[in-house]
Amino acid sequence: MTTTYEWRGAFTNREVNTLHAEAFDTMVFDDQEWNWADLVRRHSLGWVVARQGPDLVGFVNVPWDGLVHAWLQDTMVSVSARRMGIGTELVARARDGAKAAGCEFLHVDFDDHLRSFYFGACGFVPTNAGLMALS
Ligand SMILES: CC(C)(COP(=O)(O)OP(=O)(O)OC[C@H]1O[C@@H](n2cnc3c(N)ncnc32)[C@H](O)[C@@H]1OP(=O)(O)O)[C@@H](O)C(=O)NCCC(=O)NCCS
Repeated sequence: MTTTYEWRGAFTNREVNTLHAEAFDTMVFDDQEWNWADLVRRHSLGWVVARQGPDLVGFVNVPWDGLVHAWLQDTMVSVSARRMGIGTELVARARDGAKAAGCEFLHVDFDDHLRSFYFGACGFVPTNAGLMALS
């Protein structure tokens, strides 16, 4: 099955909420409450959509500071399409989109079990970073 990728590609809130629930093992959030189209319009430099035929199989959001820093948020691939290189390609497309917009750094944070994905497959290098829970 061919996978197609599109920077700032079209999607519906329902599709992304369904993929998010599968990827992060959550409930399917309400399309009005989690309005991805509105979120990315207001906060993101871009996003990458991966499809197999009409089906959304991957998505990553790329928020930014408006200048030189961009972040990966919610990198997700549907369970049935994993370990085929789709996640790696989503990140590569996000990197290319951020670079084309003039960004100098792409940031990400993740759990230990994904070190081989982000460091090994995607090319990130380890750095000091901090995280503070606000709730
Ligand atoms: C993380 C995720 C996006 C990876 O997508 P993917 O399409 O399966 O990744 P790729 O096929 O490009 O993986 C490339 C390599 O990364 C590593 N890798 C990928 N997923 C991994 C995992 N879950 N655990 C350990 N290593 C992993 C492997 O080395 C893999 O190569 P291999 O298949 O030859 O062993 C996907 O597992 C996912 O959606 N997970 C749930 C959501 C999530 O946790 N997102 C990350 C938030 S920070």
